Amino acid sequence: MADGLRKGLTSYGDAGFSLFLRKAFIKAMGYSDDALNRPIVGITNTHSDYNPCHGNVPQIIEAVKRGVMLNGAMPMVFPTISIAESFAHPTSMYLRNLMAMDTEEMIRAQPMDSVVVIGGCDKTLPAQIMAAVSADLPTVVIPVGPMVVGHHKGEVLGACTDCRRLWGKFRAGEIDETEIEAVNGRLAPSVGTCMVMGTASTMACITEALGLSLPMSATIPAPHAERFRSAEQSGRVAAEMARAKGPRPSELLTEASFRNAQVVLQAIGGSTNGLIHLTAIANRTEHRIDLDAFDRLSREVPVLIDLKPSGAHYMEHFHHAGGVPKLMAQLGALIDLDARTITGASLREVVGAAEQVPGQDVIRPCGDPIRPEGAMAVLTGNLAPRGAVIKHSAATPSLLQHTGRAVVFDSVEDMTQRIDDPALDVDASDVLVLRNAGPKGAPGMPEAGYLPIPLKLARAGVKDMVRISDARMSGTAFGTIVLHITPESAVGGPLALVRNGDLIRLDVASRSIALLVDDAELERRRAALPATKTPDRARRGYAHLFHETILQADEGCDFDFLTRAGKT
Ligand code: FES
Repeated sequence: MADGLRKGLTSYGDAGFSLFLRKAFIKAMGYSDDALNRPIVGITNTHSDYNPCHGNVPQIIEAVKRGVMLNGAMPMVFPTISIAESFAHPTSMYLRNLMAMDTEEMIRAQPMDSVVVIGGCDKTLPAQIMAAVSADLPTVVIPVGPMVVGHHKGEVLGACTDCRRLWGKFRAGEIDETEIEAVNGRLAPSVGTCMVMGTASTMACITEALGLSLPMSATIPAPHAERFRSAEQSGRVAAEMARAKGPRPSELLTEASFRNAQVVLQAIGGSTNGLIHLTAIANRTEHRIDLDAFDRLSREVPVLIDLKPSGAHYMEHFHHAGGVPKLMAQLGALIDLDARTITGASLREVVGAAEQVPGQDVIRPCGDPIRPEGAMAVLTGNLAPRGAVIKHSAATPSLLQHTGRAVVFDSVEDMTQRIDDPALDVDASDVLVLRNAGPKGAPGMPEAGYLPIPLKLARAGVKDMVRISDARMSGTAFGTIVLHITPESAVGGPLALVRNGDLIRLDVASRSIALLVDDAELERRRAALPATKTPDRARRGYAHLFHETILQADEGCDFDFLTRAGKT
């Protein structure tokens, strides 16, 4: 196959002319023939004024270019979509597959011998890895890195576990308007991704465990000089991969590396979103994430990282304690150390070089875990025939076995309008139910699964309740919250059959979620459901593509035609 500028010529029916024309135009940029004859390293640019998490991307790109050129190759930067959590309507998940398609097709369409993808805000790394896996070009991933922590009245603050906690206090009347405004200016004190173990941090750790990024790259704070030295080194590695034509993602992503990623996901107290993204990435390979096997793993793998929302610390503390290499060292035989990484080194070498930090208490040994079991459990039952997920490491232990009356909300809008109504018939022992918030129903499976505690209960001091939905939840959130109920209600899942006052039983120890209504009654309710029809919003454009092809949570919410098998 042709290399460098000669790759993937534009079709004019005359290859010689195509190359002649390509060179003539690119020379308009001032490049020399020497530069244009080098291996090419493509670099994605996801900088955007709408994406503060990616605020350091221009500086990272400069460092990558430096590394590429120091190693004798030619860097070429190109733009792709950027997605920021709080600027994506209706929700960032709605756009993840669009970003994956954009990134994959730009990698395929433009001549490059390897590619560096730079991302971080929740959906960006998953989208970029899904793209890289499908394009299967040698790829280096660079997470933008976490923000540094904030401070308020002597307390350390982190986005967005503390955003939610302090907003909850404001709703409950425990802090006033002046204080919540002061907090608003202190929660995100630098560029970079949320500095708790949310989805961004989770995906950065998983990426490192998969061997797709350099050691320590998940945890180096976004503004630190070390972040840019790591980017320079990533550029050097990408230049080497361009020359060697490997390793490709298909060579690095093995059954063992996916298992390692699942072990790390459990041990970090990772985001439930990480499971959906890892499933989508695997479905673009010959490997699969099996929910039963993932749950079995959860009983073997302890939570070792003491980070919010499961623990007490923040990403920069995890970094200074030794980062992901030290975590994998602590996990011992649970990690397959023969798995390879982008540099050609095995995880054995990565773990062997892990820093020893005397006295650190952020990365615990297996003998002294934060929790003896993993962060997440997979639940099934008549309410979730294809599964549901709970992050029980961040839940209230006394609610993990609970039976309560259902208080049902038919949509996110319905919930928003009624949750604080003083007349709402609800008490602390009830189970809040949200439906039509899944991949197809909302659309895009918004992070609405963290239903707020009804105002009258919050003001009475209630901090947590059992909440269940077909939605997702931010990895930064805390609570006894059952998510990803599959199939979702909008495609006729049993969640559509729940009525106010039904009893729902949650039993995390036995991994079950049950609607305590007999089968005959459920069948009667099913027969009375209105026929599903395409909503007006999904008649054209991307909304139509999304509505027609989105897969369920247990399949990673990819589009059906983007999986490795493609549309069947
Ligand atoms: Fe971008 Fe949290 S908002 S990582």
